[in-house]
Amino acid sequence: MEKIFSGIQPSGTLTLGNYLGAIQQFVELQNDYQCFFCIVDEHAITVPQERLKLRQNIRSLAALYLASGIDPEKATLFIQSEVPAHTQLGWMLQSISYVGELERMTQYKDKSEGKDAVSSALLTYPSLMAADILLYNTNVVPVGDDQKQHLELTRNLAQRFNNRFNEIFTIPEIRIPKVGARIMSLQDPTKKMSKSDTNEKGYISMLDEPKKIEKKIKSAVTDSEGIVKFDKENKSGVSNLLTIYSSCTGESIEALEAKYEGKGYGDFKQGVADAVISVLKPVQDRYAALIDSKKLDEILDQGAEKASFTANKTVAKAKKAMGLGRVKK
Ligand code: AMP
Ligand code: TRP
Repeated sequence: MEKIFSGIQPSGTLTLGNYLGAIQQFVELQNDYQCFFCIVDEHAITVPQERLKLRQNIRSLAALYLASGIDPEKATLFIQSEVPAHTQLGWMLQSISYVGELERMTQYKDKSEGKDAVSSALLTYPSLMAADILLYNTNVVPVGDDQKQHLELTRNLAQRFNNRFNEIFTIPEIRIPKVGARIMSLQDPTKKMSKSDTNEKGYISMLDEPKKIEKKIKSAVTDSEGIVKFDKENKSGVSNLLTIYSSCTGESIEALEAKYEGKGYGDFKQGVADAVISVLKPVQDRYAALIDSKKLDEILDQGAEKASFTANKTVAKAKKAMGLGRVKK
């Protein structure tokens, strides 16, 4: 079976955008691929974190994955820092990464721009990300298009290693989510919905209470035309709400346009709110049952053990290929 690896940083509660654009697809993929889903806490510390907040975010993200339908019988869910092989291979890959190519990464440029105390780990972040992926002989990596450059570097590092030492790494392919899966801000529909938005009304957190979800959708920016029609260019707000509605219920955009023909935005927004709540409420209920449970710890313990099994084998091969350690007499 082909293998999938993907990672999400534990940096705040996920949004509806993360859910519709990423997690929902992970849930489908777990049926057809051997999946490794990782909470990449070691990537999170490349920028300053508050320790208690970080710890809370890690656990919360794990519970959200499971509440969304990631099945530990099918997929391996684990925390990066609980599998030491990641930093081990990360270091080896750093030794074949060039400062020049790391400095060219746009994420590095964006995150370091204008700051005078930039951690060296922010620069070497992509070498660790390459290790995450290569440890599991990954064939496919489902990520957002902002990760394209990192994936390209991962492929280069894998090839470089294979050429220089030994053919041990599988060269992974990137998989960008289907079109339509780009959810925009409710307040500025030309911008991506993001948890780092300074205006809380711009995004829906997966853990927002139903009342709050309704309120945010009702105050979403639309236009003064009063016609429910998909037109990304001229009606970006309404189009975004249609995308959200359709992604939540599975109804086509055309069917939704027909359903709201002759009706105003009030009715339409109520429909969008109901659709979002009907998707998120069951996830929230499962989340509440999991977050403080022993079961969550058991699943993460087993995940770390299963991940280590595969990852340690790859590290042993990479060490041997590079000449690290010794061959016992
Ligand atoms: P991030 O929160 O930016 O680290 O993204 C984690 C995953 O969620 C990536 O695979 C993104 O493509 C996806 N994602 C984040 N925001 C959105 C959005 N507004 N619409 C669709 N997908 C998103
Ligand atoms: N860099 C990714 C992001 O910021 C997170 C990530 C770390 C990742 N390691 C990964 C994604 C490996 C896919 C595969 O979104």
